[in-house]
Amino acid sequence: MRLKDKVCIITGAASGIGKAAAILFAEEGANVIACDVQKENLEKLKNETVNSDRIFTYVLDVTNRTNIKETIEKIVEKFGKIDVLVNNAGITRDALLLKMSEEDWDKVIEINLKGVFNMTQAVLPYMLKQNKGSIVNTSSVVAIYGNIGQTNYVASKAGVIGMTKVWAKEFARKGAQIRVNAVAPGFIKTPMTEKVPEKIIQSVVEKIPLNRMGEPEEVARVYLFLASDESSYITGQVIGVDGGLVI
Ligand code: NAI
Repeated sequence: MRLKDKVCIITGAASGIGKAAAILFAEEGANVIACDVQKENLEKLKNETVNSDRIFTYVLDVTNRTNIKETIEKIVEKFGKIDVLVNNAGITRDALLLKMSEEDWDKVIEINLKGVFNMTQAVLPYMLKQNKGSIVNTSSVVAIYGNIGQTNYVASKAGVIGMTKVWAKEFARKGAQIRVNAVAPGFIKTPMTEKVPEKIIQSVVEKIPLNRMGEPEEVARVYLFLASDESSYITGQVIGVDGGLVI
C-alpha cells in the first residue's frame, strides 16, 4: 500500500478527479480527509468504496479561512498529523474577455488561486513540524497553452504553477522534505467538462495524440504518485496528464 496510514487532505473530493483520488487513496491505505462544499455528494462518496472506513468527510469551503482553520485543527486533533494536501477544488466561469463579469473573474481567482493559498498556508505549520509532507496542486494544460474564453481560469491555473515553484523552494529550506508539485490535466471526463458542447469536445479530441478524453482515475493515479514516497526526489514539477495535447 503506497499511502499506508498517511493522512491525506483532498479538496473538491465530492466530484470528478477529487472523488476518484479519494477512492484511490483509501484503497492505498490512506486516511482520506475528503473536503468539499457539496455536502450531499460528499456523503455519497462513502457508498462508492469498500474502504469507506478510511474516508472522513468534511464540509469545507477553500475560500473561507475561518472554516479552514477550524477544520484543520479538528483533523490534527483526531489524526495527530497531516502528510498530504491535494489542492484539487476548482471551478470554471467561462466568457470572452469583453463579456467576462468582474464577479466571474473574482470567483474563479478566489477558489482556484486563493483557495490553494488558503489551504496550503493552513496546513504548512503541521508539515514543518514533522519536516515532511507532499503538496499536490491542480493546474491545467490551459495554463501553458491558453484557451479562448478562460481569462480568469487560465490566470488562476498559471498562478498555481507559479506558487508551486515558489513553495518547492521555500518549504524545503533547512533540509525539510516537504515537496510541492503540480498536475496539469488535459481534457478529463468529469462534471466540469460535461457542460462543454459536443462539437467543441470533438475538435479538442482531434488534437489529442491519444485521441480521447482522459478518465478521472488517470489523473488520480498521478496525484497518488506525487503524494506517495515513490516520488521522494521530485519537487517543483508540473506533470501533464493530457494524452499528449501539449507537446
Ligand atoms: P468537478 O467540477 O467535477 O469537481 C470540482 C469539485 O470542487 C466539486 O466537487 C466542487 O464542489 C468543488 N469545489 C468547488 N468550489 C469549492 C470550494 N470553494 N471549496 C471546496 N470545494 C469546492 O471538476 P473536476 O474536473 O474534477 O476538476 C478537479 C480539478 O481539476 C479542478 O481544479 C479543475 O480546474 C482541474 N482540471 C480539470 C480538468 C478537466 O478536464 N476536468 C482539466 C484541467 C484541470
